[in-house]
Amino acid sequence: MWKKIAIGSMALWIITISYAGYKFKYGNAEKVDNRVAITLSVAEKDVVLGEMRLLLEGLQGIISGLSNSDFKKVEVSARGNGMVMAQDVNPALMLKLPVEFKSVGMGVHKAFDDLAENIDGKDVKIILREIDSIMDSCVGCHLTYKLEIER
Ligand code: HEC
Repeated sequence: MWKKIAIGSMALWIITISYAGYKFKYGNAEKVDNRVAITLSVAEKDVVLGEMRLLLEGLQGIISGLSNSDFKKVEVSARGNGMVMAQDVNPALMLKLPVEFKSVGMGVHKAFDDLAENIDGKDVKIILREIDSIMDSCVGCHLTYKLEIER
């Protein structure tokens, strides 16, 4: 009986210590400090974030299309997130973005164009798998970079 209680409290103690250690190491938002900050003017930051919001909207269009078997909507939404989106970005802004940022970003636009390519008759699960893999880039980039304003 006492042995069980001793083992039980030992286990609780270990759990508590590990949790405290974990919190100490990772805190609540430690990742923020691990991101690379890209410094832009107010207007440039707005351009980048505006593009992000369009990407999110496009994703919603794709999912909405898929849920209604409206493949035209899926295609139009995917195409809207494609290379067309990257065309009129100004050169000064491009110079401020790290190469890797640009190449991941272009990869995402290209992937949306590829998705739009043969949408008709494609298995919905395959389309979802492609979106899943595109979203790896959204998630990965958000873990890596943050935007800051020049002062
Ligand atoms: C090449 C890097 C990169 C890729 C790829 C990327 N993002 Fe972002 N996104 C960012 C950065 C950087 C921010 C700003 C984060 C910060 O400063 O905290 C951001 C912010 C956002 C925001 C917030 C917009 C706002 O108004 O604050 C949304 C929404 C978003 N991204 C959606 C997406 C979606 C959806 C995808 C994929 C389809 C995507 N992003 C892909 C880098 C990226």
